[in-house]
Amino acid sequence: MIKVSIPATCANIGPGFDVFGMALDFYNYIWIDERDKFSLEIEGEGRDLLPEDKTNLMIKSLSSVYKGNIDKLSIRFQNNIPLARGLGSSATAIVGGLFAGNELSGRPYSREELLDMAIEIEGHPDNVTPAVLGGFTISYRVDNEIRSVKIIPPDFNIYLVIPDYELETEKMRKALPDLYKREDVVFNVAHASLVTIAFLNGDFSLLQEALLDRVHEPYRGKYIKGYFELRDRVLKNDEGVCVISGSGPTISCFSEKEDMKDRLEMYVNELGIGGRIIKTRPSIEGVRVEKTI
Ligand code: HSE
Repeated sequence: MIKVSIPATCANIGPGFDVFGMALDFYNYIWIDERDKFSLEIEGEGRDLLPEDKTNLMIKSLSSVYKGNIDKLSIRFQNNIPLARGLGSSATAIVGGLFAGNELSGRPYSREELLDMAIEIEGHPDNVTPAVLGGFTISYRVDNEIRSVKIIPPDFNIYLVIPDYELETEKMRKALPDLYKREDVVFNVAHASLVTIAFLNGDFSLLQEALLDRVHEPYRGKYIKGYFELRDRVLKNDEGVCVISGSGPTISCFSEKEDMKDRLEMYVNELGIGGRIIKTRPSIEGVRVEKTI
């Protein structure tokens, strides 16, 4: 039997729209055994929504690299990451399926080749890249190729405020303008550069200043109840800094404080944001494949 662990990811991280991503210490798991017939069992998030057949995104990704007979696989998918909340749940299905299929086929593809395939399936790199490589990643384009750089981020707390409603990435991409003013571009170049330095140097106070964005947050924040207010409150009280995770609606609050969950819960209730809060941290490791008994 094999076990695949795939991390949730926070994409964009303030000014790094479609560029920055970070792996989180919060995982989905897939177990696969070779038996005599196909079965797929989904547990946890999306259990009643996701197809339990070969149309499932994880199975389609697995099939694209698996050389054996899929009708003999018995698969269990433990889905802990909520769907359509900006935490890279579809990236976990794609990356998990590709790495599982590769392992079961005797590893014909390298990690880099599998990452290229994952980007092709997902359509943007900033969730699948940290899901594969771990850490904080910067993705960039060279002609038709996407390349990436990984930085090991400092170990701080990330409080995920996960509202109960979903936001579709496609719709949230349509909420963005096609063109930006030069001053906004300059603003983002400066702030994205500072975010990278802050992660490299483990400088949390610089990170608090750097995580400002003019490319997506002003347009998407309106769709996330209480986002701007929560961000202001956390910053004003010197408790950390919040960003929209991916295209939302999850709000990721980066903090050095260990005991912030109760206070955050109070703010979230006062602002009527609702949902749940999960305390996590960056993961320096990406997808992991193990052989188990
Ligand atoms: N960079 C993508 C977006 C990430 O913001 O649309 C989606 O998770």
